Amino acid sequence: LAAEAFQQRLLAWFDREGRHDLPWQSPRSAYRVWVSEIMLQQTQVSTVIPYFERFMAHFPSLTALAEAPQDEVLHLWTGLGYYARARNMHKAAQQVVDAHQGELPTDSVEALMALPGIGRSTAGAIIAQSIGQRAAILDGNVKRSLTRLHAVAEWPGKPGVERALWALADYYTPASRVADYTQAMMDFGATLCKRSRPLCERCPFNDVCLAYAQGEPQRYPESKPK
Ligand code: ADE
Repeated sequence: LAAEAFQQRLLAWFDREGRHDLPWQSPRSAYRVWVSEIMLQQTQVSTVIPYFERFMAHFPSLTALAEAPQDEVLHLWTGLGYYARARNMHKAAQQVVDAHQGELPTDSVEALMALPGIGRSTAGAIIAQSIGQRAAILDGNVKRSLTRLHAVAEWPGKPGVERALWALADYYTPASRVADYTQAMMDFGATLCKRSRPLCERCPFNDVCLAYAQGEPQRYPESKPK
């Protein structure tokens, strides 16, 4: 499918059925998008929302977070799990205050990736959603969707396969409406192209999806070989 056609179909679906009322979508700032992305790394949207609201009430700015004692940050994280996320985020906030005048360096994927807890996909998500600059994402949702669409039969964690998936992710990413596109890809993977029981009848790509054509889309992605 040509990139433009993919974007048009995805965004038309997103306009109809995507999530438009998430608390980090408005007001939108790099700090708010960053906190949401870290919370969403291993936790689903409905769980994250009340934690996100409480976190923002306590730490309305990155500087406020940087200046807080670590136990206060961890206390607000209680129940979300994966506490390394909170410790890394706190450390990253202090580094941003020390090295970037308190502003997340949203001008480059590499500068964001230099901070603890921010990988390539999270960096792309922050750039796309906060300043609307073109940047690809490849989280678990996007990997699953792309391996199905293209019937990528090998484990997506394999270095060559992962490189190919990044190339596909980059190919499909539009220059305009990139914040919506990014949210749309996550919503698409979370609500339609689900790990088990994907809702292929409602999918805007079911006429071009190679895994659907083969009849067993939930076979993708291949799991890690032992
Ligand atoms: N997972 C990671 N980021 C997300 C987002 N912005 N919306 C939904 N799920 C996500």
